[in-house]
Amino acid sequence: MSHKIAPSILAADFGNLQRDCEMVNNSQADWFHIDVMDGVFVPNISYGMPVISAINKHAEKTLDVHLMIVDPDRYIKTFKEIGADVLTVHYEACTHLHRTLQAIKNEGMKAGVALNPHTSVHLLSDVLKDLDLVCIMSVNPGFGGQSFIENTYNKVKQLSILRKESGANFLIEIDGGVGTANARKLLDAGADVLVAGSFVFKSDNPTQTIADLKAV
Ligand code: DX5
Ligand code: ZN
Repeated sequence: MSHKIAPSILAADFGNLQRDCEMVNNSQADWFHIDVMDGVFVPNISYGMPVISAINKHAEKTLDVHLMIVDPDRYIKTFKEIGADVLTVHYEACTHLHRTLQAIKNEGMKAGVALNPHTSVHLLSDVLKDLDLVCIMSVNPGFGGQSFIENTYNKVKQLSILRKESGANFLIEIDGGVGTANARKLLDAGADVLVAGSFVFKSDNPTQTIADLKAV
């Protein structure tokens, strides 16, 4: 299976959201990556339900929603209603992660968990088979356009080993500072989904940049 590319809408032009959604529809991208920040779990606020509903009206591909919010259980049903296909919560924001993952799956969505740069992949060993996706944060969450943290390669390799040993089959997603300079090394380490915000939307030709990431 070839790797997936998930452009991060956080870096899109919010004044031209329909245009940017259509660009993603007509590109080789696989998913829309949608970052939700609450100003509590992370020191920034992005956008919420009305904007995601608007994106969902135009988006023709999988909506991969990354929740950087505390107590995400409150909104699982709502995210399903507004179009989320994959719903990812943060390990650091969930006291009862196992319950949260089941609640996401009970709503008919794929369940993901994201790990901050300091959080060991080994902390997931008791839920590996409950996961559809693990998002390894390669920057500290909260902002687009940050530099990639090099230790990510080790984490991806370790998680890939855990996946193999356990027979689990979640996807490994990398989020933050991803571009053509590090994509090949990430894929070789075991990544399946590459999120890219600034690298795509700040480029001269986003459609071509997505194709370049897909061709890595
Ligand atoms: C960071 C977000 C990322 C962000 C990636 O908190 O989770 O998805 O949009 O942006 P770039 O690719 O610019 O680092
Ligand atoms: Zn994200």
